[in-house]
Amino acid sequence: MTETKPTYYITTPIYYPSGKLHIGNSYTTIACDALARYKRATGYDVFFLTGTDEHGLKIEEKAEQLGTDPKSYVDEMAAGIKKLWKTLEISNDKFIRTTDDYHEKAVQKMFQQLQDQGDIYLGEYEGWYSVDDEEYFTETQLAEVYRDDNGKVIGGKAPSGHEVQLVKEESYFFKMGKYADWLLDYYKQHPEFIQPANRMNEMINNFIKPGLEDLAVSRTTFNWGIPVKSNPKHVIYVWLDALTNYITALGYDTDDDSLFKKFWPANVQMVGKEIVRFHTIYWPIMLHALGLPLPKTVFGHNWLLMKDGKMSKSKGNVIYPETLVNRYGLDSVRYYLVRAMPYGNDGTFTPEDFVDRLNYDLANDLGNLLNRTVAMINKYEGGVIPAYEAGVTEFDASLEATAETTMANYHKLMDNLHLSDALAEIWKLIARTNKYIDETEPWILAKNDDDDSKHQLGAVMAHLAASLRVIAYFLSPVMTHAPKQILSQLGLTFDDDINLKELTMASLPKNSKVVEKGTPIFPRRDAKEEVAFIAAQMTKSDKKKGRAAMEAAKQAANSGVWNPENTELKSAKKQVRFDAFEKIELKVAEIIDVQKVQGADKLLQFRLDAGDADDRQILSGIAEYYPEPKDLMGKKVIIVANLKPRKMRGQVSQGMLLSSEDSEGKVQLVTVPESIKNGSTVE
Ligand code: ME8
Ligand code: MG
Repeated sequence: MTETKPTYYITTPIYYPSGKLHIGNSYTTIACDALARYKRATGYDVFFLTGTDEHGLKIEEKAEQLGTDPKSYVDEMAAGIKKLWKTLEISNDKFIRTTDDYHEKAVQKMFQQLQDQGDIYLGEYEGWYSVDDEEYFTETQLAEVYRDDNGKVIGGKAPSGHEVQLVKEESYFFKMGKYADWLLDYYKQHPEFIQPANRMNEMINNFIKPGLEDLAVSRTTFNWGIPVKSNPKHVIYVWLDALTNYITALGYDTDDDSLFKKFWPANVQMVGKEIVRFHTIYWPIMLHALGLPLPKTVFGHNWLLMKDGKMSKSKGNVIYPETLVNRYGLDSVRYYLVRAMPYGNDGTFTPEDFVDRLNYDLANDLGNLLNRTVAMINKYEGGVIPAYEAGVTEFDASLEATAETTMANYHKLMDNLHLSDALAEIWKLIARTNKYIDETEPWILAKNDDDDSKHQLGAVMAHLAASLRVIAYFLSPVMTHAPKQILSQLGLTFDDDINLKELTMASLPKNSKVVEKGTPIFPRRDAKEEVAFIAAQMTKSDKKKGRAAMEAAKQAANSGVWNPENTELKSAKKQVRFDAFEKIELKVAEIIDVQKVQGADKLLQFRLDAGDADDRQILSGIAEYYPEPKDLMGKKVIIVANLKPRKMRGQVSQGMLLSSEDSEGKVQLVTVPESIKNGSTVE
């Protein structure tokens, strides 16, 4: 007979692949991962979903800017995001992309059903639209308005600070208003639906009570979306497409809906506070209209702020998780992020705080406890952990009591989504265990030869090992390596089958042999040096603008005219005077070698023979168009030969290759017949 485990379905938001993900997005994903791992370790059958939200004007525009098509763009970005989750050892069971075929079909079907039953109708929309926020605003919602001489509003800024424009379009609407009373009643019956609880009042007072407006759910002003089947000039607009991912990922309304039957409704849908509204107003109404049950809890966590406010791709005050993982290891980063986000309040990332956590919490409190324990067991017990025996001294009893309390509190906190507090609870046990060493003074017990002292010393060593074992297991939802390393230094192996709810101090295995010399699992860092390092990384990512300029330069380059002083896209289209053109020296050159540039996936590095004494090196941002660059060997191309050399990614580029771009954004190098001699000028 197979036992049936209780199920647990947890989801992250699906992220926009409009830029590289930063430690803010990583926070949500790591927090959900910790919960998923915790639930698996306490006997649940878990389904953990994450993914990407790939449609919309922002993506369409971004792809266009980069001279590519939206699908190629999101393919590349989604691959990068999957890679990041791999680096962060995220244990998701599925990664959904809203461009997945099954999702698109299911969304079209739901749209049709909602329209058939009268929940969706065709109307006209007019409003102030912010492309960056992908959101319409009413005039009163704008943070700033611009007026003409007659006082008429002609533009303005969204609360986010982004520019808005007046847009009027035919649109399908979802009748949200009709469900307002039902929703209020649902909230009342299900106080656990929105967490932290105070967010519920915010929803009621700010959004529902003032009157719930019908929601525009289609657009005709861009193409990159799922077409409305019965009226394909409309594409289905962001929230109906995005929110439904949580059920389409499970095969909702398909031939194989076994996952849907098994896991829906979700237990926890974790989101950042800025999208709680969509998840606790629109989403429940959509589900209700479809006749489906609601997720048990939508949890809106706060933001991880930088000193100058919310970290965001558009602000450019970002720190990337890869940078931190490469230098400090995965566990440090996972620990830091989960610890840094308090329940119901914003957290702040500072380099100082990050390094302090590494040095104090990890190297000092936890690392030293392990080092001291292993060293003492070697010194006093010949390396073998004595059998665990409870309550030999009053100190033992007190440590046991703390461990009990910690375990009970930890479970409660994890189940209530207080992740940072659950970690703090483990650190209480760590601190208590360190204090226990000072109280029991093993070095004094070791000097005494009597049986009583020996007995007590053995009990102390066993308690230290037992406590570290509990600590290691309780860290395992958040840290994916250290728990195994801690146990291994104690001569124990990490047992995946242990249910964390059944873990006890007394279940310490007998007679295990500790390692002879433990290596520190969390080395101490030079605070000054590391703070400087992280700060430098943060300003580096500020230079995102530099990268954008490079992309623009590439664009301009691809269209044939590139002005190094003016990297604005527009400059490519301006007319140039004949004498300006005459200054440009174009030459025929042969590609004698070409390769990809490490760490710059857009660039190809060419060696060319342009008829000069020396070969010439040119870097060009066309890698995406030539997946097999070696195919270009021997081809003859046209180069701009007298361009001032410049450095890209630490490499000198001596000129530019001419390429063409067609109306679909496909870029190709301009090649000339082999019969033309290397170094010939092009007039
Ligand atoms: O909103 N601190 O995607 P998105 C904490 N596609 N969390 C942060 C954060 C920060 N500074 N910055 C981002 C979208 N996040 C939509 C969601 S869901 C059906 C559609 C996290 O790429 C947080 O979870 O803008 C936030 O809600 C999410 O990233 C926003 O990701
Ligand atoms: Mg956002």
